[in-house]
Amino acid sequence: MSTNETSSASPLIALRDPRSPAAEAYRTLRTNIQFSSLDKPLRTLLVTSTAPDEGKSLTLANLAVTMAQAEQRVILVECDLRRPTLHTLFGLPNEEGLTSVMLDQREASLPLQPTSVAGLSLLTSGPLPPRPADLLGSRRMEALVARLQDEADMVLFDTPPVTAVTDAAVLATRLDGVLLVLKAGKTRRDRAREARRMLEKVKANVIGVVLNNARLETTYGYY
Ligand SMILES: Nc1ncnc2c1ncn2[C@@H]1O[C@H](COP(=O)(O)OP(=O)(O)OP(=O)(O)O)[C@@H](O)[C@H]1O
Ligand SMILES: [Mg+2]
Repeated sequence: MSTNETSSASPLIALRDPRSPAAEAYRTLRTNIQFSSLDKPLRTLLVTSTAPDEGKSLTLANLAVTMAQAEQRVILVECDLRRPTLHTLFGLPNEEGLTSVMLDQREASLPLQPTSVAGLSLLTSGPLPPRPADLLGSRRMEALVARLQDEADMVLFDTPPVTAVTDAAVLATRLDGVLLVLKAGKTRRDRAREARRMLEKVKANVIGVVLNNARLETTYGYY
């Protein structure tokens, strides 16, 4: 696969056009995340939102690319076990992934897939399970998070919207931080507060909010 072809066709602006204002915004987000916790560096981070289609997956994927470009070893983990999209963003198959690891009783190697970005690998969802929250809340999931941390500097988790299902909240308790993605002009204030309350109730560490799709003349994405 030619790298140039991948980047010119990629939906990921951090990869396609690293000098764009949007890519710059992702770099600022990366820096803000690094500085959000100076005493204990954040090693595991989850993104969620209040409603579907607010740009969680796209934001997280661009952030992952940006972190890998800063020479961090990054693993992106698809924990949206309802509508997984990360494999499509990176043009990779999804026959095996998170759910295959959870079902496999042997300590087999993780089906991590390299992406077109050096240092960035992807654990896709695998076949979709009947009860995602049970799986994400299981002991096996806890062990998997620890195992992924051994293999990367930063592990990033994509999830469904937090107010629709409990998947994100269940997982958030086990990770270092949570980013909430809000969509400019769309996310309702009361829903944003509700999402924040839900996350704080389970004692998740909400490190900040990303305002996606803010109206700026030169950029299509802003934090
Ligand atoms: N800043 C943006 N500018 C333009 N398009 C965007 C932006 N953010 C997201 N989109 C588009 O909006 C759609 C939804 O984005 P994405 O899949 O990232 O949202 P999501 O919150 O992960 O959705 P879901 O709730 O289904 O997981 C996609 O088609 C994506 O390309
Ligand atoms: Mg998504």
